[in-house]
This record gives sequence, structure tokens and C-alpha cells, in this order.
Amino acid sequence: TEAIIAQKAPYPVDVSAGRKYFWCACGRSAKQPFCDGSHEGTGITPLAYTAEADRTLYFCGCKQTGKAPLCDGRHNAL
Ligand code: FES
Ligand code: FES
Repeated sequence: TEAIIAQKAPYPVDVSAGRKYFWCACGRSAKQPFCDGSHEGTGITPLAYTAEADRTLYFCGCKQTGKAPLCDGRHNAL
């Protein structure tokens, strides 16, 4: 099974240094951009990401990024 597009734009999130986030790689979560367990049965698993600093990050919403879990601009070509 393949990742589906949650939205063709990133999700800005204010992350906290040292905190771990689980990015939804499958596109099925209702709590985008993070995993809510809806990947079950797809064979896709979330990607753990630990923030290094307090800042705003842009998590990929299209799930096609080459720099997961962050947006690399690829959504512009969709
Ligand atoms: Fe998408 Fe868990 S719901 S990876
Ligand atoms: Fe996926 Fe930008 S939202 S690459």
C-alpha cells in the first residue's frame, strides 16, 4: 500500500527542543502531520523525529518529500 496525500502543503508546527514527534508517513492520520495509528494494515510506519531546538518546522503533508519528515518543496509539483 502507498502513502496518500493528506494535503499538498506542509504543516507548520512549533516544536520543542528534545521532544520526539511521530510524523505520519501514510497520509491517513486524522491528526496531521502526526501519526494517530491509522496506518495499521498499510505496512507503513510513522517516522520518529526529535526536535533539536525550539522553532517552527514545516512537516510534509503530501507524504512525497525526499527529506522526511520535513517538506522539501516537492508538493509544488503535485
Ligand atoms: Fe500515518 Fe501512522 S497514521 S503513519
Ligand atoms: Fe510534502 Fe511539501 S508538503 S514536500
